[in-house]
Amino acid sequence: MSFDTIIKGGTIVTAADTFIADLGIKDGKIAAIASNLSDSPTVIDATNRLVMPGGIDSHVHIAQPGAVEVVMAEDFNSGTIAAAFGGNTTVMPFCLQKKGQSLREALKIYHKEAEGRCHIDVSFHLILTDPNPGVLGQELPALVEEGYTSLKVFMTYDDMVLKDRELLEVMAAARRTGAFVMVHAEGYDTIRFLSDALEAEGKTAPYYHGPSRPAAVEREATHRAISFAEITDVPIMIVHVSNREAMEEIERARRRGLNISGETCPQYLVLTEDDMDREAMEGAKFVCSPPPRTNDDQEACWEGLQHGIFSVFSSDHCPYRFAEDGKLTPKSAQGFRWVPNGIPGIETRLPILFSEGVSKGRISLNQFVALTSTNHAKTYGLYPRKGSIAVGADADIVLWDPEEKRTIDQADLHHGCDYTPYQGLEVTGWPVMTMLRGRVVTEGDTLLSETPEGEYLKRDVSPFTSQKQAL
Ligand code: URP
Ligand code: ZN
Ligand code: ZN
Repeated sequence: MSFDTIIKGGTIVTAADTFIADLGIKDGKIAAIASNLSDSPTVIDATNRLVMPGGIDSHVHIAQPGAVEVVMAEDFNSGTIAAAFGGNTTVMPFCLQKKGQSLREALKIYHKEAEGRCHIDVSFHLILTDPNPGVLGQELPALVEEGYTSLKVFMTYDDMVLKDRELLEVMAAARRTGAFVMVHAEGYDTIRFLSDALEAEGKTAPYYHGPSRPAAVEREATHRAISFAEITDVPIMIVHVSNREAMEEIERARRRGLNISGETCPQYLVLTEDDMDREAMEGAKFVCSPPPRTNDDQEACWEGLQHGIFSVFSSDHCPYRFAEDGKLTPKSAQGFRWVPNGIPGIETRLPILFSEGVSKGRISLNQFVALTSTNHAKTYGLYPRKGSIAVGADADIVLWDPEEKRTIDQADLHHGCDYTPYQGLEVTGWPVMTMLRGRVVTEGDTLLSETPEGEYLKRDVSPFTSQKQAL
């Protein structure tokens, strides 16, 4: 058999196995995994490199409009380039339905933004902010059929929060349609109550973003979301879990046999509440929700990753520049509640988990692959086309140097943001080549895909909803 490309002598890592072999690629697919493959015009030497499925980041925000004066610091071109340099081959941004808007209207806008600009593959989750009977009864079932098989709901934020009854209606609709529900679990009223009290005391600096939404706020909402999922009998994913108490809610639910999944993110492993305690507005660079918490909460997030309470590790990339159109809007100076929530991380997710996790002996190589790629593909209906090194799968591959040492530096990154919250973090392990369907997108510090070749991916219904499976 002849191949378009052979990757030779690398250590192939999947969620299950680690072994040395050659990999043959033909027509964008993995065609062979064997020793001593030959017959290809292109041979890539992968000696001393890990050969892993490209990262899948199932929680990113790209070109998502926020408040009028605020601009998200990422479009599909810059976002997918940054993701590729970070070792990713698929990203799943959100398509935000504004109140009064139909889901199809919202999707049209995002597809137009993404069209022709993506250097890696992309697939959208829906954000439901207006779950009226038409949306839940007509639009959602049709869109699930068309491959939009997941949606996110918010339990907080003025412009996105759903009432408890609405959450239940969305979950019931998910049960009927097979849509997989992701939940932002923080309680709206408790945050408002605490924010008002802090403001009344003159506590308005970015640091107070943390005390305005302590762990109990997240724990309560997580418990409520899980109870609603139990009542409506649907699997759900609690996204961006930041602390021990919320992690334990998920753990307890799973022990009780409920089909509840969890996601955590880099900010909850390497940042703490102290990062928001900086001079003037510097702390705003770390304002995201839920906020980074304590060292013990970091430890709990590691336990969640190690023991499968969290099946996916995502970036929650949500970048705003440290400028007037981002973190520093005129209103931000009035208090923490006006600082746009979200931080960048699309390019640094894999190096941070590899370095802090694999290099420091907290997780295995196979867990790394599961948490950054395979479980995302399985959860969101892309497996086995994506998320593994297997014959027949798309040749979406990252070559990784496990020994390369880098200090994360904004000057080296490709994202649209003007800062990184991980500035100065020393990491061991770095992606040296990212390949999408057999074509090299990035090599070292060079972008090789001048024409964006990323495709839009329709997804199957999650096996969690269709077969009641869990990871
Ligand atoms: O602060 C965050 N995480 N902003 C992004 C929006 C979200 O809730 O995921
Ligand atoms: Zn969220
Ligand atoms: Zn998010």
